[in-house]
Amino acid sequence: MLEERIRLPQLRDRIVTAEEAAALIRDGMTVGMSGFGAAGDCKAVPLALAARAREQSLRITLMTGASVGHEVDGVLAEAGAIRRRMPFQSDRTLRNQINAGESTFIDLHLSEMAEQLRDGYLGSVDVAIIEAVAVSGDGIVPTMSVGNSGVFAALAKKVIVEINLEMPLELEGLHDIYSPLSRPNREPIPLTNAAQRIGLPYIPLDPQKIAAIVVSRKGDSPNKVLPPDTDTTQIAGHLSSFFAHEVRAHRLGPSLQPLQAGVGSIANAVLHGLVDSGFRGLRMYSEVLQDGAIELLDAGCVDFACASAIMLSSEYQTRFFEGLGRYQSRILLRPQEISNHPEVIRRLGVVAVNTALECDIYGNVNSTHVGGTHMMNGIGGSGDFARNAYLSVFVTKSLAKDGDISSIVPMVSHVDHIGQDVDVIVTEHGLADLRGLAPRERALQIITQCADPLYRDALLDYVSKAVARGGQTPHLIEEALAWHARYRGCHSMRPNKTLSQASQPITEAA
Ligand code: COA
Repeated sequence: MLEERIRLPQLRDRIVTAEEAAALIRDGMTVGMSGFGAAGDCKAVPLALAARAREQSLRITLMTGASVGHEVDGVLAEAGAIRRRMPFQSDRTLRNQINAGESTFIDLHLSEMAEQLRDGYLGSVDVAIIEAVAVSGDGIVPTMSVGNSGVFAALAKKVIVEINLEMPLELEGLHDIYSPLSRPNREPIPLTNAAQRIGLPYIPLDPQKIAAIVVSRKGDSPNKVLPPDTDTTQIAGHLSSFFAHEVRAHRLGPSLQPLQAGVGSIANAVLHGLVDSGFRGLRMYSEVLQDGAIELLDAGCVDFACASAIMLSSEYQTRFFEGLGRYQSRILLRPQEISNHPEVIRRLGVVAVNTALECDIYGNVNSTHVGGTHMMNGIGGSGDFARNAYLSVFVTKSLAKDGDISSIVPMVSHVDHIGQDVDVIVTEHGLADLRGLAPRERALQIITQCADPLYRDALLDYVSKAVARGGQTPHLIEEALAWHARYRGCHSMRPNKTLSQASQPITEAA
């Protein structure tokens, strides 16, 4: 069995235990690990590393594709082993350490990290640990994600390969590894449709660099998306009607343009909602494929989907592996530098659907910072897609925390996506099409279409007072963030709450 997976006989001599492999990593090193959205992350060496960090001083800079499972970020953070982390995370323990200033987090556009690594801005990579289906004299066949694994393998001084026997050999062929040439010899990325293959089915690697091989047997952590609910079903309904309207207006063809859907429960539920929309022949050019994408492939709505990772719940992991034969010719996994590349996103005319924590009345979006200060996950690929998409949509529920937070606010407390990068905002109440609108027009659209009735009058009142003071983008500067201050002070943005009603000020991210 191992001969099928470790195809160069001399590499089989490099099989070691996870503890022996982890011993290659020393305090202060930079480690590049495979993994994107908790898909294809290495499973054995990080646990051994965490065990060592509990016994001795061991703090590393950890780089990945995007988020990784709790067994990596959570367990390493609990052991105090993460000194510096980039470019994205979604683990509660690590998030708390970041917000407490105990770990340093560099929140990067996912498309840019490979380039910044090659240019040396992010320091050198001491060790790369990459989960693989198989390894040969030519290179590594990754598992459920590609992420930054190619650039880590190319730049690392040493590579540890984790051969995961749980990952079916049939995953081979699903990957398309392409790396742009260095400047000044860079050429256009030759992708003119989402289904095109432009690279190799493996990550090229000189076998001399492989310092250790560890054999593991553990599936990816299941993606914990919440099932669709009334609000997300309504959001999906508004979006489907809007797409149909755009088709009637001849701005989109009957099979739309390649779709991107962001991470999280809401984006997943939106895809689920497209199953009954009547659209057929869709394609996805995305960063991640969640359950919703597999559902659309199975329902025959989507013909082809490419991304950098497949992150699934346990039910869908089983469904995916059992039906791998069906998906092999309909899915490709690309490096995140390519899946999120602005050049390709603009050329293909991607329709991007990402999730906002909050939007303001002028269409600026905060996707990352709770209350303006506390990191949730990171910008991920949302900026790569929002700025370069043909149509950039942001979805959010109009309320959070049982109505104590309005997701539509006078001014966002942190800006990830400026108004110019946001074409459409959708909540369960409706859809605001902001194309061709000036700020004052945008404000009325967003408030009347998207805000919850609980907060609508207060928002209209804010705008009318701000407009009386004038400006291209009118604001009451002294009140613009008062809603966030009210939430911080009295646990609610509700207009009838005053700071004097505060029981205890909120000091941590909700
Ligand atoms: N203020 C404070 N908290 C808020 C909030 C707001 N305005 N809006 C939502 N939240 C909280 C929710 O209450 C929930 O909290 P909980 O985990 O304690 O239950 C949490 O944020 C997640 O919200 P949810 O509504 O479940 O959304 P989600 O799972 O779809 O995730 C993002 C939403 C924004 C956090 C997520 O999409 C993200 O990290 N986006 C940035 C990166 C990105 O877009 N990547 C994709 C590019 S391809």
